[in-house]
Amino acid sequence: MPHDIVILGVFVADAAFRSDRLPVLGETKIATGFTLGPGGKGSNQAVAAARAGGDVGFITRIGDDAFGQMGQRVWAAAGVNPLITCDPDHPTGAAGIFIEEGSGRNAILISPGAAGAITTADLTPHAALIAGAKVAVTQLEQPVAVARDFLRIAQAGGAITILNPAPATSLPGEMLGLCDYVTPNETEAAALTGIAVVDLNSAAAAAEALLAQGVRQAAIITLGAEGALVRDRKGARHIPQMQAGTVVDTTGAGDAFNGGFACALAQGMDLDRALRFATAVAAISVTRAGTAAAMPAAAEIRALLQG
Ligand code: RIB
Repeated sequence: MPHDIVILGVFVADAAFRSDRLPVLGETKIATGFTLGPGGKGSNQAVAAARAGGDVGFITRIGDDAFGQMGQRVWAAAGVNPLITCDPDHPTGAAGIFIEEGSGRNAILISPGAAGAITTADLTPHAALIAGAKVAVTQLEQPVAVARDFLRIAQAGGAITILNPAPATSLPGEMLGLCDYVTPNETEAAALTGIAVVDLNSAAAAAEALLAQGVRQAAIITLGAEGALVRDRKGARHIPQMQAGTVVDTTGAGDAFNGGFACALAQGMDLDRALRFATAVAAISVTRAGTAAAMPAAAEIRALLQG
């Protein structure tokens, strides 16, 4: 069955600790809170897009274990169609997440587990779905070569391609030319361009450099509380962040943004409308704890956009 949106990426279980600060090496510190829940950028983006109203297929690899079953439950609840390989030889991965009390800012260490063993052979049974999608999205938590092959299949089929280049890593030369849109945060944009992103001007310079490296439609740099900076052939524009309440947890905000963006493009919105939609999805997600669990439903997004 074809899908409007096909996403390749990672599912892991997120072990999230809240504290006023990270422990230093050699120190043990009592956390102020803990949750174990679904995560992984690809899975979070798939859930965000589906909750926002998208028709989503998600390609990944999970282990034959309790964390893998957690993923299956989350996708079923969100209406994501899992296009998965179940790998008996590798466990499903996990992420250790530190959330700073007060600001809601986070730091993440991830072990992709079974999804780190994804190969291009995992794409082969789904090649027609990838090529036939309206929008194809991936990130860089699974091997980069597989992300490249995914984008290549999607582009050859005429899909709109989005690369969320997270976490930051070096890319093969042809990679950005396979992307209609790239959506790095400040750190990732700096890693890709060598330009330190510290304000809107430097974000615009980094975005311009990404276009010069081959990105086809637009480079979109997400800027946390400052929203996003988009640069396309028309020029650079600032998309301010929307406010939806008190920020409790910023983990997965980028995933909310990317999932919302994919959903909006699949629904035929133009770039600026799609970015406003994505910003609304991210704004709501940070008012809630967790990642996949924080993704808003279509009605909530509409209410914020109209409010
Ligand atoms: O973007 C947030 C996600 O990054 C978390 O859910 C964690 O699993 C890591 O993949």
